[in-house]
Amino acid sequence: MTHWIRIASVDECGPQQCLERVAADRIVALFHADGEYYAMDGVCPHQGGPLGKGVLQGCVVTCPWHGWQFDVRTGQHETNRAVRHFTFPVKVEGNDVFVDVNGFAESRAIR
Ligand code: FES
Repeated sequence: MTHWIRIASVDECGPQQCLERVAADRIVALFHADGEYYAMDGVCPHQGGPLGKGVLQGCVVTCPWHGWQFDVRTGQHETNRAVRHFTFPVKVEGNDVFVDVNGFAESRAIR
């Protein structure tokens, strides 16, 4: 069952920006990449770094702690094909951005 939660306004996450929010006890990283919004689990699968505070270039976010890089569209690690992080469906209604916190794609992350 979907569970959409508003996590930001469009204005709070402008083009090529990212931010960190808490939704339903999850830390969510929201990205505005190449004109679309994407969301991933905000806790880096390496050692827990804050992905929502990373650096976004194109559709790739770089974790601020040790530099792991993920495609924000899929959660796929850029160099280790065995690692894919959780992603969430996102929708925009008017000026509001929502994530479906029950709709996360399963991670293949190495822990
Ligand atoms: S915690 Fe993200 S790269 Fe180490």
